[in-house]
Amino acid sequence: MRAVVFHGLGDIRLDTVADPVIEQPTDAVVRISTAAICGTDLHFIRGTVPGMKPGRILGHEGVGTVEEVGSQVRNLRPGDRVLISAVLGCGSCGFCRQGHFAQCDNVNPYGPRSGTGSFGSPEQQGPFNGLQAEYARVPFAHTNLFRLPDSVSDAQAITLSDIYPTGYFGAVIADVSDGKVAAVWGCGPVGQFAVRSAFQRGAARVIAVDGHPDRLDHARAAGAEVINFNEADPVEAIMELTRGIGVDCAIDAVGVDSESAKSGPASGAARRADPRHREELAQIAPETAAQDGHWKPGDAPSQAQSWAVESLAKMGTLGVVGVYPMTDRFFPIGTVLARNLTVKAGNGNHPRYIPRLLAMVESGQVDPETVLTQHEPLRDALAAYREFDLRSPGWLKVALQTESALQPA
Ligand SMILES: NC(=O)c1ccc[n+]([C@@H]2O[C@H](COP(=O)([O-])OP(=O)(O)OC[C@H]3O[C@@H](n4cnc5c(N)ncnc54)[C@H](O)[C@@H]3O)[C@@H](O)[C@H]2O)c1
Ligand SMILES: [Zn+2]
Ligand SMILES: [Zn+2]
Repeated sequence: MRAVVFHGLGDIRLDTVADPVIEQPTDAVVRISTAAICGTDLHFIRGTVPGMKPGRILGHEGVGTVEEVGSQVRNLRPGDRVLISAVLGCGSCGFCRQGHFAQCDNVNPYGPRSGTGSFGSPEQQGPFNGLQAEYARVPFAHTNLFRLPDSVSDAQAITLSDIYPTGYFGAVIADVSDGKVAAVWGCGPVGQFAVRSAFQRGAARVIAVDGHPDRLDHARAAGAEVINFNEADPVEAIMELTRGIGVDCAIDAVGVDSESAKSGPASGAARRADPRHREELAQIAPETAAQDGHWKPGDAPSQAQSWAVESLAKMGTLGVVGVYPMTDRFFPIGTVLARNLTVKAGNGNHPRYIPRLLAMVESGQVDPETVLTQHEPLRDALAAYREFDLRSPGWLKVALQTESALQPA
């Protein structure tokens, strides 16, 4: 089969590889129709989240049809159309039973403390090949696959694999509730769903921050008040918008590839802070492979989190879903202490939220498809990766369709 394979930092290829097979009685093999590229994949290729093994198929977002099931998968049959959860659980351990699927004890064979089980990820997250492929093996399929109604399209469903449940989880851990004022840092695909989820959880106002006007336009269309950090100092702007109080809830949907302001009033401060950011980058990502302007790590790893902390109201809560590597040691803990802030972070507990989000999509309450701006064939995945990596205008989220999905029915 064809698949996008990680060969090294800055080196991904479209290869022909062996088809996956059932390895455990709890496995299913799914024929992928639609996969997607995620900001998380960019961290792996840029080297800001280390640990990818050469040969690993990339991708953790997918929709498809069950091809084969192991003997312990009793809720699904070959032919069922399914969406695949990017975060994997076993469905039996104490953590899964309490809904903390990202901390499952069993799904990752490297042990309970090794990392959230996911596809196409650094080795410590488990030996699972990714979903940017024609077929994939899904462990504990009874828990990690969700049957799709015919009325929900692939384009809608692919957002439920990771970005929507992650944005929703961000709103949950940032403690968004009725009447609160929330800020969403980063208006990539995850930030877009964090904005929508914050409103769904009752936020009265959502302020969204990014440096890309097209991404801010999408957030404004969803009802957010937007701030371009290349035009205004985002902390000052938030203080002005909230009469000097700050926001109750902040969601970091940026992660380690955070950028400094390149123009506007925040860029002066960034220039002064530059040596510190360079030092952070050298420590967090000693090895990178930037080439021809591609696969460049963000130049200010702690910028989004420090702005987010700075603009919180006293007693406010920060929810971090942007990904940082285990080696990251930079966080503005002093401000957190001084203002009695709460910080929560983590990978989303996707299997917990997918059913309710799917029901909202099915009932027409939300149409997640507006975030999906690009539909490309899997065979053009490398070109699509390059545009998404550059955050080229219009390239907000890329779906990848396999040949089987492109053939007329
Ligand atoms: N925790 C989870 O379960 C989970 C799941 C999926 C993705 N993620 C993570 O969420 C993050 C976002 O993913 P994505 O796919 O939307 O990625 P993305 O790279 O497309 O989006 C990041 C956005 O942040 C913006 N940004 C950069 N620096 C900023 C700053 N200082 N302030 C405000 N905005 C800034 C960028 O312009 C970009 O629009 C990534 O770190 C990704 O790894 C986490
Ligand atoms: Zn993802
Ligand atoms: Zn478990």
